[in-house]
Parts: sequence; structure tokens; C-alpha cells
Amino acid sequence: MSDLFDFDQPPSLYAVMGNPVAHSHSPQIHHMFAEQFQLRVDYRKIQVDLGGLPQAVTSFRATGGQGLNITLPFKLDAFRLADEVSPRALLAEAVNTISFTDGDRIIGDNTDGAGICRDIIFNLECPIAGRRVLLVGAGGAVRGVLGPILEAHPDLVVIANRTVDKAVELERHFSSIRNVAGCGLDDLTGEQFDIIINGTSASVTDEIPSIPHTVFAPGALAYDMMYGERPTVFVDWAARHGASQTADGIGMLVEQAAESFAIWHDRTPQTGPVIAALRNARAA
Ligand code: ATR
Repeated sequence: MSDLFDFDQPPSLYAVMGNPVAHSHSPQIHHMFAEQFQLRVDYRKIQVDLGGLPQAVTSFRATGGQGLNITLPFKLDAFRLADEVSPRALLAEAVNTISFTDGDRIIGDNTDGAGICRDIIFNLECPIAGRRVLLVGAGGAVRGVLGPILEAHPDLVVIANRTVDKAVELERHFSSIRNVAGCGLDDLTGEQFDIIINGTSASVTDEIPSIPHTVFAPGALAYDMMYGERPTVFVDWAARHGASQTADGIGMLVEQAAESFAIWHDRTPQTGPVIAALRNARAA
């Protein structure tokens, strides 16, 4: 194993590419994972100009890069760039993890859906199977996680979006997997769900999508795919309006990273201590 703790060998090189990327916690997360196995890993952040992903990936590979995470706004570009994609990336039409073959073919995968499912089911101990799930939003974030959520056997998944057409389009794309319905935010009046996931970008501007505050069934989990220095406005709002349990996207961030790490290093890291470290750093 060339990347085992051996000071005669250079560390193996990984990176996250995005724009912006300065805020990314991925280097910290991957370095903590690497420490668990005493692997020498150099994981960097690379800011890429819009339209510049193909060139950036080629240069990275030429300097010995072994694998990449791809974040906003390049997940669709990465999907198009990949020579081969996994079934889950194909379904999401988005790639967040790249590895390379010896012949420099680009292999694309998407670990976002597995990440959110692991966080909800194992870390938050909230089963998805048999539950009513509401996904708010119909952009790339929701599309990226829908397949694995549907494959976790929920009773029903409703996708509600401000622009109804986009939710209906996702319903069409994913209805072959399982019971899924697309609708507008107003159509949620009178409906209740066990798991309510905010997959909109509203939290970025401290806004809350205008869903009825009656959507929370007894015992409901409210989950924001976003995270920040403090609890998101959605998390605060949900806690005040009857959600029994709330979570932001830090757990998903760490779990999707763990899945990428396992693809590259063939080892499954422990996520609990890393999630705790990120939460503690934020509380400090
Ligand atoms: P991403 O890739 O992060 O999902 P996106 O594709 O631009 O970003 O999608 C953003 C999502 O957040 C969309 O579903 C958007 O709703 P519209 O399709 O109607 O634009 C949703 N969104 C953003 N701000 C919102 C707000 N203030 N209230 C409700 N939905 C919002």
C-alpha cells in the first residue's frame, strides 16, 4: 500500500474542486479519516473558474492526483466529464466523487444520497423505511439524494417546490423506483410527514421555504441539508413548530465524505468522532 504511513513516500494527493471552495471542511474531514488508518493523505481545496473543470481535472491528474470531490456548481459538469459513472450518479445526473483508472479514465460516483441516508438512519436513528418523507426543493441538491432515499423503502416521498414544474419533472424521472409525488408548496396544507428535509438553498439567505408549519407529524425529524456556523433558520423554525428532532447537514457532509474515502482507500472510516469534532469546533 503506497499510502501507508511511510515518510519515504510522498502523501497521496486528493482535492475538492468548487467555486467558491474556501469554506469547505472537506480537507479537515479527510485528514481526520486518514489519521484513523495512519494514511498519508494531502487533501487540498482547488477553486475552479466556471467552465474550467475539464482543464482543472486534467492538470490535477497530471500532478499525480488520485481522487477528487466535486462541489457546487460543478456536479453536472463532472457528470458530463466522466468516462464512466455509477448507477447512482447516473440517476442523480451529478458526480461528487471522481477516481481515475490506471489508464486515466475518469470514473464518476455520487455519494450524497448515501451520505444523507446514513446520517438519518444510523446517526439520528430515524428509520426511513415505511415513513412519509417530504423533500422541499427540486434543484440539484434534491435530485442528488432522491434515488438512495427512494431505495430506503419509504412509504411515500413528496417533492414540494416553489416552482411546481420542477417537482413534477423529478416525479417523472424517479417514479419508476418508488411511490413519489411532485407538488407545489401550497399543496402541503393538511399533509403531515415523519421526515421533512429542506433541500432548498433558502437557508443561504436566512429564508425559510413557505411550507405550512403543520407538516410535522408527531415525532417528526426536520433535516436541513445546509449547515453553517449556527443552526439554520429552518432548523430553528422547525423546532419551534413541532418537529421532535432536528438536524443540519453536517452529518451528511461527513457521511458523504466517508463514502468517498472508502471508494478511494478501500477502508470505511469512523464518522462519529469527526462529526463531533466539527460540531465542537463550531460551538467553540
Ligand atoms: P441546488 O443545486 O443547491 O439545489 P438549485 O438547483 O439552484 O440549487 O435549486 C435551489 C432550490 O431551492 C430550488 O428548488 C429553489 O426553488 P425554485 O425551483 O422555485 O427556484 C429552492 N429555493 C431557493 N430559495 C428558496 C426560497 N426562498 N423559498 C423556497 N424555495 C427556494
